[in-house]
Amino acid sequence: MIACAASCIIGSAQLQAVNIVPVPTSVKETRTIVRLPSDRLGVHAADKQLRHVAQVWGESLEKPYEAGTVELESGFERIVSPVVLPEVRLCGRESDADVRLAIDDSLGDEAYVLEIAPESVVVRGGSAAGVWWGLQTMTQLLVQAAEASSPGQDLQLSGLVINDSPRFAYRGAHLDCCRHFFTVDEVKKFIDIMSLHKLNTLHWHLTDDQGWRIEIRKYPLLTKIGAVRAETKVGHYDDTEAGYDGTPYGEGCYYTAKDVKEILEYASDRQVTVIPEIEMPGHAVAALASYPWLGCRGEGYEVRETWGISDDVFCIGKESTFDFLEDVLDEVCEMFPSEYIHIGGDECPSIRWKDCPDCRKRMESEGLESERQLQGYLLHRIEQYLNAKGRKIIGWDEILEGGVTPTATVMSWRGPKGGITAANKGNDVVMTPNNYFYLDYYQTADPKKNGEPQGIGGYVSLEKSYSFDPYDRLDDNARKHIKGIQANTWTEYIATFDHLQHMDLPRFSALSEIAWSSGKTSYEDFLGRVTASLKPLYEYYGFIYAPYVFEGIE
Ligand code: ACM
Ligand code: ZN
Repeated sequence: MIACAASCIIGSAQLQAVNIVPVPTSVKETRTIVRLPSDRLGVHAADKQLRHVAQVWGESLEKPYEAGTVELESGFERIVSPVVLPEVRLCGRESDADVRLAIDDSLGDEAYVLEIAPESVVVRGGSAAGVWWGLQTMTQLLVQAAEASSPGQDLQLSGLVINDSPRFAYRGAHLDCCRHFFTVDEVKKFIDIMSLHKLNTLHWHLTDDQGWRIEIRKYPLLTKIGAVRAETKVGHYDDTEAGYDGTPYGEGCYYTAKDVKEILEYASDRQVTVIPEIEMPGHAVAALASYPWLGCRGEGYEVRETWGISDDVFCIGKESTFDFLEDVLDEVCEMFPSEYIHIGGDECPSIRWKDCPDCRKRMESEGLESERQLQGYLLHRIEQYLNAKGRKIIGWDEILEGGVTPTATVMSWRGPKGGITAANKGNDVVMTPNNYFYLDYYQTADPKKNGEPQGIGGYVSLEKSYSFDPYDRLDDNARKHIKGIQANTWTEYIATFDHLQHMDLPRFSALSEIAWSSGKTSYEDFLGRVTASLKPLYEYYGFIYAPYVFEGIE
């Protein structure tokens, strides 16, 4: 257990409790006080790569907003604390530095050791990533020290040695930019938020029924027609009275190759890998509206204006569909160097395939007995295509139903069940169970009474997220296939980046701790650490967070 309930007194100096989320593997407190300048921190980096890490860290410490509380146009409140952090200066001479960065080959890639001692503060990492994660811990400690100190006074940190490494290699956050679009700057801010929580994989949902959001040179209509819906459903999907807003949405709302490059560089500087998702064979109406020959009916498609699932999906009978998908994936692979490409696979009705002569012909010629096998046929072909380009696929857990190959990674979203089946079969798994990590779900038991904004439904409290055990009901062999966990934030009802933050914070804290830490604490201890370490961080950066748990409401 990390937290000591309050601060301890050593001589006349105050020793702050050590509060860190995610809880590190081990913390040895040395019962000393370490003073650091409050205005300027000299950082020495052992090589060019680490100098870059130090520079990015310095940029990450810049405070974006003035102190104060502001009611935003979006209806959310931004609280910014008066805390000031020192400016980071790179030091050429090690002896001049307050903080030293170094690589330690004896550590695992993402592991780090953070030593805060009177004579030096040192962050050693197994790689630049390890150093970066160590610096994220340092940021938390600096914010707490700055919060406890008077302006102009040295920052006082508890002497300690932290040894820390991640539990899972895949620590993901998913962002749906289709239902609502987020600008390049907002995606970068999302990456900042991920990074502060030691999350290292952005699953970027780029195509769906309600909007196609990535420019493909060979198919310009995808972003000319496919990015724009004529209007948007008002209120909840089930509310048939509420109607539509009468306003086109999405003109120009897509990412160019240049935008992607900028975001990937930003992510890479923060040790975040970006995995694009190109949905198939369902959730494809925006593509069908752009190029109607992609569908079984061949005409009559409009970018979807309401939520839910469409019967119109890619036609698997026509070769031209595969030509299109391969062309799109060629350009996607050019833009994204990630080992994995997410190909969707979820929520795909088969009714159009049943009535389509081309799809029936395909089933006959390939000896497929069911429409699910037809879906499996597409998946296998696309997997082979991507494998030949040196990539691997991830798909939602429905891909298990069409006869999954042993090499596909399964993303378990309909609870952990699909992930358990897949891991027992020997497939790699990322757990993203809706009942623990769908952050578009409500955060309190009584959303109306607690003033939560309109949401899709469901209920995932911070405590519920924190209770997730990724290894539940798995033997040692199957556990090896759990590559990590991820939270998904679908944005049907989330039109602004302020609202998105309100949904993700503070629930990213539970994701962070379960993804990173091998041993979690009691929920009470966890909430205490979130309150002492992450809330001040959110308020330093002016991130929008949901207040409920801090007011005792779940
Ligand atoms: C999903 O939520 N349809 C993956
Ligand atoms: Zn068809």
